[in-house]
Amino acid sequence: MKHEPALFKNGFKFMFITFEGIEGSGKTTQMEHTRRYLEACGKPCVTTREPGDTRIGRQIRKILLDPENRDLAPEAELFLYAADRAQHIRERIRPALEAGHAVISDRFSDATTVYQGHARGLDLSMIRDIHTQVLEGLTPDITFLFDLDPVVGLERAWAAIDGGKRPTGESRFEQETLAFHEKVRKGYLILAEEYPERIVIIDASVSEALVFEQIRSTLERRFSLVHSI
Ligand code: TMP
Repeated sequence: MKHEPALFKNGFKFMFITFEGIEGSGKTTQMEHTRRYLEACGKPCVTTREPGDTRIGRQIRKILLDPENRDLAPEAELFLYAADRAQHIRERIRPALEAGHAVISDRFSDATTVYQGHARGLDLSMIRDIHTQVLEGLTPDITFLFDLDPVVGLERAWAAIDGGKRPTGESRFEQETLAFHEKVRKGYLILAEEYPERIVIIDASVSEALVFEQIRSTLERRFSLVHSI
């Protein structure tokens, strides 16, 4: 099945939403608010994440995020993300969309373009070719890009690790330099310029309530949602 971005007025068909941004930008908290909001609008919803939302993906996630794996070659990193994504689409995303659920994914293909492409410096056309094979035409209907100064994001991310909310064993990217994270932020903003219809920039520096307000109003406008909360 090829996924066509759907028309959503009155009885939307597919709804595939992705959340992207630097570490510590607050995506995960907002995904939960968004899930609750969509369900209050009568749309059953599945939340998922990359890497690591399938049994096989969890094994791949361990390799990718383990700070001991400093010697992981950029190309190997790229293919591991692609492998996780292939499994994720096959096992989780497509079945949920076909069953009529909205799917909200914490990261998807844009993360590869930005982290492995813009930040690690791998060839963007090679990444596009891999995505042609792996995505089988699946494109998010909307992507929320959480934009934030990496100094603030990294501070928040390390507070989560130090406070035990995120395992130290998953800190390989947090341990990258500030310059790396600046490239990630810039890469995302370049993508947002490239796909202005799909990628919505969210100011992630404001309060949790104000961040969600930006998401809610966008969803309401785009998908003509009516909610009961
Ligand atoms: P997270 O679970 O906190 O989002 O961590 C996943 C990390 O993996 C994050 O630092 C971004 C990175 N990543 C990539 O480098 N490429 C990708 O394609 C994806 C999905 C994530």
